[in-house]
Amino acid sequence: MNYHSKSLSSGSIKKEEASFLYNLIIQEKPKIVLQVGTFLGFSTLIIAEALKHNGAGKIYTIDPEIPHLKISNPVDIARKACIERGLGDRIEFKNGWFSSVPYSSDKAISLEVIGSALIQKIGTLDFVFIDGDHSIMSAISNFAVVVNFLRVNDICVIHDVCSIYSVKQALTAILSDKWIERMFDLSILKGHDGLAVFRKVNEYVSVRICIKDKLTQKPVPGVILYSKTHGEKAVSDLRGEIYIPAILAYKYCFDIIANGYKSLHNCCVSLDTHRPFQEYFFELEPE
Ligand SMILES: C[S@@+](CC[C@H](N)C(=O)[O-])C[C@H]1O[C@@H](n2cnc3c(N)ncnc32)[C@H](O)[C@@H]1O
Repeated sequence: MNYHSKSLSSGSIKKEEASFLYNLIIQEKPKIVLQVGTFLGFSTLIIAEALKHNGAGKIYTIDPEIPHLKISNPVDIARKACIERGLGDRIEFKNGWFSSVPYSSDKAISLEVIGSALIQKIGTLDFVFIDGDHSIMSAISNFAVVVNFLRVNDICVIHDVCSIYSVKQALTAILSDKWIERMFDLSILKGHDGLAVFRKVNEYVSVRICIKDKLTQKPVPGVILYSKTHGEKAVSDLRGEIYIPAILAYKYCFDIIANGYKSLHNCCVSLDTHRPFQEYFFELEPE
């Protein structure tokens, strides 16, 4: 199979990007790689070859396996090439939608969205390559699904950030989030289609406050958490939970006020910056 036969190569990464990816994998030596969008497997094989060169690592690659031109299943071509090149132990193919189902797809109903569950099953990610559905919604939600699984020094590369307008717009939207700016260093390889390379440099720390009834131990929804210092109010959801942005939580003090319960005053939480997720429990005593 000639991967750069013209009609097919339009859907695959180009040579310059392929060699960039190959070198990046060799440099970073990820153990677990996740790819969104397998297609004919060009980028899958490039990454798998680099992992083989490193002597360690595996790529999980997801695709809904929809027909393309006269090819009923492009991923079957990737599977075949994977075996031919002796990369069977480096690649695991997964059939499904990653984070969302594109509006136009007639395969929508027969396949599941598997991204989040797959990542949880794999456990950790070191390197992510996103080249799936290019709509703004999918491009943003693909990134959103992986972002909280990445640890400091992990990398997420998004393809087509220069050549496809919707991906460009998605990138702008992603970058408008100040948390992303804090958490990642970004470099862009402009080249043909454009690769955005995000490297995580700071941990995002999210803080969850859980409020329970002291007697029943059931969550209390509709509780008001009032911070005098910030002059802000937040309300607990049906699970009795409130999330506090990490930037506020280095030391965040508040009163907890709820109908039918004694208020709690001057409650404080502070962050342990070594833990990415923290939970604090408060119990309310009925009046
Ligand atoms: C541009 S091609 C990928 C090319 C491949 N990365 C390469 O360079 O060889 C995009 C692929 O994304 C797949 N795709 C579309 N929607 C998807 C989704 N929601 N989740 C995962 N893959 C998706 C398509 O079936 C298609 O095979």
